[in-house]
Amino acid sequence: MATTSKPLAATPPMGWNSWNTFGHNVDETVVRETADMLVSSGLRDCGYDYVVIDDCWSIKEGRDKNGDLVADPLKFPNGIKALADYVHGLGFKIGIYSDAAERTCGGYPGSYLFEEQDAQLWASWGIDFLKYDYCHAPLFDQAIAIERYSRMGKALRKTGREFLFSVCEWGNQSPHLWAREVGGHMWRVSGDVFDSWINIWKSDWNTYGIGVDVSIDIAHELHQYGGPGGWNDLDMLVVGLKGRGQISGGGLSFLEYQTHMSIWVMACSPLMIGCDIRRMDAETASLLMNREVLAINQDRLGIPARLVKRVGTCEIWTKRLADASMAVAVINRGSRGEDVLLKARDIGLLEATKLVRNLWTSQDIADFKVEFTQRVEPHQTILLKIQG
Ligand code: GLA
Repeated sequence: MATTSKPLAATPPMGWNSWNTFGHNVDETVVRETADMLVSSGLRDCGYDYVVIDDCWSIKEGRDKNGDLVADPLKFPNGIKALADYVHGLGFKIGIYSDAAERTCGGYPGSYLFEEQDAQLWASWGIDFLKYDYCHAPLFDQAIAIERYSRMGKALRKTGREFLFSVCEWGNQSPHLWAREVGGHMWRVSGDVFDSWINIWKSDWNTYGIGVDVSIDIAHELHQYGGPGGWNDLDMLVVGLKGRGQISGGGLSFLEYQTHMSIWVMACSPLMIGCDIRRMDAETASLLMNREVLAINQDRLGIPARLVKRVGTCEIWTKRLADASMAVAVINRGSRGEDVLLKARDIGLLEATKLVRNLWTSQDIADFKVEFTQRVEPHQTILLKIQG
C-alpha cells in the first residue's frame, strides 16, 4: 500500500533545542532525559517532534585523522549515532548544529569546505535536521552567504537522506529572499532572542540580545515570506526560562511569555522549546501545550498573521485558517491596560455574528455582533478564534 508522508516543513517545525538552557553544557544525559520528558509530559503528542543538539557537541581541538568531526566523548560517551537511535525509538527526529565557517559561534570546528564530508557523517548517524550558523563568516556580503548555504544545501541533498535545513544567518542578508532556493526550510530573522521584553546589551558577546517586543515588528515586516516548506524563524522559544539559561535577560512575566508564544504561533514561526522541560512548571506547560493555540501555528494553509490595525498602543493581527475561520491577536505593547474595540470590518469579516473563542482561556466569549470590546493588560495578548 502506498503511503503518503507529509512534505518536510509543510507546517512550522516544532521541537526542542539545547542552546537556550544548556549552551556549552549539552550532553547525552540532558538529551536523553529531555526526550523521555517530551514523551511523559505529553509535549511529543502535541507535535514537538524534533530534538536538536545545538553548538558545542564536538571536540574543540579539530577533526580526526580522516578529517571527520568528532563528538566529544566526555559529553557523548556512546556517540551521536546511539543517541539518534534512542531518540528515534521514542518517535522523534534528531537535529545537529554546525556553522558556515571554520569555527562555530562557540569556537568548535565548522563545516565550511567540509560540507559533503560532514553531511555524509551526519547522514550515517541518522541525523534529520541541521541548524547551520554563520559566526566567523563574512558579514554583509549576500553573495557569500548564498554561496555558503548553497554548498551545504547541496551536500545535504547529495546524502539522499531527508534533512530539514535550518538557516541561522540572523537575517542580516535577507535570507527570506534566498533561503528556500538553497534548500532551507526555515531561516532566522534576527539575532538571539533573549528572555526579555526589550533589547538588552550583552557586553560579553559585544552585541544586543533581541527582546520579544522587537521580534513583533520583525514578524510584521516579513510576514509575506513564510509559508509551507519555508518559514521565518523568530528563534527558539524563551517560554519557561524564567531568568535561567544562556540568554537570561531578567525574565519575562507570565503575560509576556503568553504574548511571545502568541506571536510565534500567529507568525508561523517554528516552535523550538528552549527551556529545561525536566523542570517545566504548570504555567509553562499551559503555554506550550495549549492544543487550540498550537493548531493556529500548525494550520495547513500556513499563512503568517499580519497586522491589520493599530488602536493606541494595541495592535490587531489576523491569520486566515483552513476551516474558513480567523485567528485574531490583540496585543498591548504599551504599559497601561486598554479596552480595545474590535470591529468586524477591521478584521475583514463580511458578516458580524460569529462565535468567538478565547484560546488562552478556552472559553467561548460572545457572539461577535458588529463590534466587541476586549480588555488587554500591558504586554498581554488576547488570542481569539472567530468561526467562519
Ligand atoms: C548563535 C545562534 C544561537 C546558538 C549559538 C550557539 O548565537 O544564533 O541560536 O546556536 O550561536 O553558539
